[in-house]
Amino acid sequence: MKLERQFATRMSDRAPVYSKEDIASDAAETAERRADPGFLWDFWYPAARSSAIPWRKLLTAVLLEVPLVLGRSDEGKAFALRDACPHRGIPLSYGRFDGRNVECSYHGWKFDGCSAQCVEIPSLTSQDKLKVDRIFAGHFPCQEQDGFVWVYMHSGRRTFRRRPALERSARNTRART
Ligand code: FES
Repeated sequence: MKLERQFATRMSDRAPVYSKEDIASDAAETAERRADPGFLWDFWYPAARSSAIPWRKLLTAVLLEVPLVLGRSDEGKAFALRDACPHRGIPLSYGRFDGRNVECSYHGWKFDGCSAQCVEIPSLTSQDKLKVDRIFAGHFPCQEQDGFVWVYMHSGRRTFRRRPALERSARNTRART
């Protein structure tokens, strides 16, 4: 329901990419999450069975009320992105995946599945100054182990110098950062 509202809002406004409202909204969402005592953020969670991700297809999952899109690159690396395009909020799972990049179905922005970095905006011309490589989709550390795709659900916009470690035993999913 929340995603639908967010989607409707983003579709109806004509604000530029990363407007002040978007940033304020992200900050509010992060604050809301931090204040939410019901969820355990900053832990690894199993999002799907490894076998459930079909070749060159995307799979959706929801963890801690966050919609995710899961995939696996042709090199065999699983990834987890927030299932919302950073441009106008369309679910990225509606788009296409070529084994490396996820292409949004709305305006065709492409994101590297593993790094979440934007790699192409088809509408840009040579006069446009927008730096494509500074745009990222929301993404979460992801790892396959014990037949599952594990996703580290962090509590906000975080960057990781190195991926949080997932305990070798599937029984203990606590992450060490
Ligand atoms: S909503 Fe415009 S490219 Fe995704």
